[in-house]
Amino acid sequence: MKFSQSAVVAFAATAVAAPSPTTQQEPRNAQAACASAVTLDPSQNPFKKYTLHPNKFYRDEVNAAVQQLSDPSLATAAAKVADVGSFLWIDTIANIAKIEPALADVPCTNILGLVIYDLPGRDCAAKASNGELAVGEINRYKSEYIDPIVKLIKAYPKTAFALLIEPDSLPNLVTNSDLQTCKDSAQGYRDGVAYAIKNLNLPNVIMYLDAGHGGWLGWDANLKPGAKELADAYKRGGSPKQFRGFATNSAGWNAWDGKGEFSGASDAKYNKCQTEKIYVDTFAPLLKSNGMPNHAIVDTGRNGKTGLRNEWGDWCNVDGAGFGVRPTSSTGDDLADAFVWIKPGGESDGTSDSSATRYDSFCGKSDAFQPSPEAGTWNQAYFEMLLKNANPSF
Ligand code: GLC
Repeated sequence: MKFSQSAVVAFAATAVAAPSPTTQQEPRNAQAACASAVTLDPSQNPFKKYTLHPNKFYRDEVNAAVQQLSDPSLATAAAKVADVGSFLWIDTIANIAKIEPALADVPCTNILGLVIYDLPGRDCAAKASNGELAVGEINRYKSEYIDPIVKLIKAYPKTAFALLIEPDSLPNLVTNSDLQTCKDSAQGYRDGVAYAIKNLNLPNVIMYLDAGHGGWLGWDANLKPGAKELADAYKRGGSPKQFRGFATNSAGWNAWDGKGEFSGASDAKYNKCQTEKIYVDTFAPLLKSNGMPNHAIVDTGRNGKTGLRNEWGDWCNVDGAGFGVRPTSSTGDDLADAFVWIKPGGESDGTSDSSATRYDSFCGKSDAFQPSPEAGTWNQAYFEMLLKNANPSF
């Protein structure tokens, strides 16, 4: 999915399914019972009040994966992953149909995370996540994608929603504007993002706009143009009230803090944002000075292990990765609302099949796990690897 700067394991059919404790204990089907309409105060961190919901679709994927595990202790650990809150990707018009089933079992104490991800000419600097809408199909984006989502969210005023708006899109316009594909996509991205945030500005919604990661907009030369690009989008969308800030490390691999995986590289002198914490703390004031709300959510779904990439820009199915910190609002940083799981760990970033239309060479690199299926498709072997390498462990 991401372009930044610059052994299938077959298990015996004798697997024992370990039930997921939360799946049994949480009061499912609670949504309809919530007392009143949700009004999210955009001046407050929504994750202090609400828990990111372990959505049904990821739970189902994980529970199916558990069935394939013959090692009982691994199966027990795997079942716990089903309880982890994560974002649900609405990556096609057809997948809007996932929203109602997903919100049917959101307890009143939970917030449903959705990724809004279907811009025309999507993934302009890479191939793995090219989308269904072609450049120019902005009217379809508005009327067949955003409008129906708006309608659904309005129909469920008792549910709280956290929305991540269009991963990679604006960062690509900042750093990859030399590519013809990104030039072609630019107007649709800007128009589409503005339309999305203007219309999704509903009382039960809090929005975060994607800001790439420290190894992308964190380069000295990219920080200011990056902040301007995002803030301009926010203003173009009418400075919507229910807008809280930005998202970093979506589907990414960077550690929150520590030394910084690439801090010893020869080009490190051009990038002070060697960790996501530094990136959040550096980018947020720039957003503020451009007039944009500046609180962040950070994807920690797959950043449990670092030191795996040959280059910082390697984004596809990084080999050796592990699940990271579970969603929490205890980040130790006032600018960071929460660590969240945005990329559903186990779903592929892109196919390693070089004959596929959406094959991107990053998915064939030596540090990319192979074989890997099409983006968004479950990869059991990759899931098991994330589980074994989880930090903290399950
Ligand atoms: C990739 C895919 C998308 C999927 C998402 C989450 O971006 O292109 O289809 O929903 O990852 O796995």
